[in-house]
Amino acid sequence: PAAVIVAIDGPSGTGKSSTSKAVAAKLGLSYLDTGAQYRAITWWMLNNGVDVNDPSAVATAAAKPVIVSGTDPLAPAITVDAVDVSGPIRTQEVTSAVSAVSAVPEVRTLITDLQRVIATSAGNGIVVEGRDIGTTVLPDADIKIFLTASPEARAARRSGELRGKVPVDVAATREALVKRDAADAGRKTSPLAKADDAVEVDTTDLTLDQVIECVVTLIEGAI
Ligand code: C5P
Repeated sequence: PAAVIVAIDGPSGTGKSSTSKAVAAKLGLSYLDTGAQYRAITWWMLNNGVDVNDPSAVATAAAKPVIVSGTDPLAPAITVDAVDVSGPIRTQEVTSAVSAVSAVPEVRTLITDLQRVIATSAGNGIVVEGRDIGTTVLPDADIKIFLTASPEARAARRSGELRGKVPVDVAATREALVKRDAADAGRKTSPLAKADDAVEVDTTDLTLDQVIECVVTLIEGAI
């Protein structure tokens, strides 16, 4: 059979990354974290003095950084101009700037093209996670999953992830999450959205293992 393509979308804090990596590892598929690509280009803009709130400056610079995504679900490193930025792309500074950068159409065109090349060249099949994979990047994916969870559950998970790294305030985390989702869902070019043919999974009351099992079952049913 042809290599399976799995699209997993949803807002932040729904367990998308943990689920996608675990499912890919379990099924022997490649894995692509498209959020990491938008974070990487944002990291480059911040490091090169580009005003991230100036869409035309961002558009002009967009093609300069060379972004390479690792697709091993157990070690998905990402590099910008051959520098591993897997750690630096997770800072608060990048997180608060990424929605503005990812809303710029030139950025989306470049990154979307890159994503399609990676997805179609993964001979063993691939799990691609993001916000617009099922709607825009890979509309012909074999299975599309849209993960959701209540804002409270999402903020609690994010705070749990951040704890130990930076001082955590759950209320502030919730506010930042809701704000980023609103920006991602409200932008003009390929906003965060559930594809009509995506299966929605509400993860609010599920453990990570239960979500993984549910997604594996959905994929197995589709191939
Ligand atoms: O998934 P993650 O939280 O790392 O994504 C970071 C940001 O990248 C999102 O808030 C969104 O602005 C952008 N993004 C996007 N389209 C995708 C994946 C991520 O616009 N497919």
